[in-house]
Amino acid sequence: MEKFALVTGGMGYIGSHTSVALIEAGYQVVVLDNLDNSSEKVLTGIESITGQTPHFAHTDLRDVDAVLEVFNEYPITSVIHTAGLKSVEESVTNPSKYYENNIGSTITLVKAMQTAGVSTLVFSSSATVYSSSSKPPFDENAKTFPTNPYGMSKYIIEQIMADMALADSKWRLGILRYFNPVGAHPSGKIGESPSGVPNNLMPYLMQVAIGKLEKLPIYGDDYETPDGTCIRDYVHVVDLARGHLAALEFLENKNGVHFWNLGTGKGTSVLELVKEVEKVIEKPIPIEMKQRRKGDIPIVFADVAKASSQLSWQAKYSIEKMCADHWKWQKHYSDSRQ
Ligand code: WQD
Repeated sequence: MEKFALVTGGMGYIGSHTSVALIEAGYQVVVLDNLDNSSEKVLTGIESITGQTPHFAHTDLRDVDAVLEVFNEYPITSVIHTAGLKSVEESVTNPSKYYENNIGSTITLVKAMQTAGVSTLVFSSSATVYSSSSKPPFDENAKTFPTNPYGMSKYIIEQIMADMALADSKWRLGILRYFNPVGAHPSGKIGESPSGVPNNLMPYLMQVAIGKLEKLPIYGDDYETPDGTCIRDYVHVVDLARGHLAALEFLENKNGVHFWNLGTGKGTSVLELVKEVEKVIEKPIPIEMKQRRKGDIPIVFADVAKASSQLSWQAKYSIEKMCADHWKWQKHYSDSRQ
């Protein structure tokens, strides 16, 4: 049977790179997106990379009839669910928006899948579900205790999926806990386009590099780390996309619910990332030391043994490659908005 994947949030950062990986692996792809946080221009980027234009469903996941129509229109065999709000900061100031959007849209999606008889689903979760009391490297059994509504929404969805698998053995559910996705497709044609001032480190860094923002605030240099700044597991978004493909392949003959960390297993500090970007752009990045940011955990990086053994997946790209590819995208993206 032809492999037909529905990618929710397919116009977004993770969704668009995953759609490219799926098309290049021979899947037919339907991109479903409400375009709240993305642009239809992404379709052009996907087409210029793969030579194919994915089917596009301009649909809000919370509209159950519209979602059912997509399943009636296309012979979907699996779903990659990346749609969702993802700002930690915004989730703290507007929690109900995050619970309603992220959980509500997932419930609607699952109901439509049930009606359509589609039982394979890969879900975009996050390392934010892990507890700050866990000790790095975090493996999939590390204590979970989200400290913000964004992370809690991901955690609740994980619990819903675990209960679904208990209730009905037909489900084939893969939960991917992303660490810190960065970088862009090496073509420079798709990448992350945050709206407004970025919350996350890499996009902020890149906007300073391109001159859109004046200097990089560094939230705390007094942590218990070698250079005093927080450590994170940055992973190339193209590696992450390959992880979704590997998860789909694993689920082809595996029922139940399965969890995998997607990271490099290596940590990089804020100052180390700044230095890597300075090497790529060949000029200094102006920084400003600020107070610690509420909720930041000093050291977060993944134990990736499970994805390596079960999915035969490892991150291939280095931090230098992540910075080079992100910078190539930043320049292309900025030029295209002149
Ligand atoms: C990394 C480090 C900051 C910005 C979050 C979500 C996670 C995922 C990625 C969605 C921290 C420091 C940051 C800045 C800085 N999001 N920093 N100056 O917090 O590890 O993870 O984003 O999927 O789910 O939890 O990533 O990039 O925001 O911060 O010094 O302008 O960079 O304090 O130590 P984080 P981040």
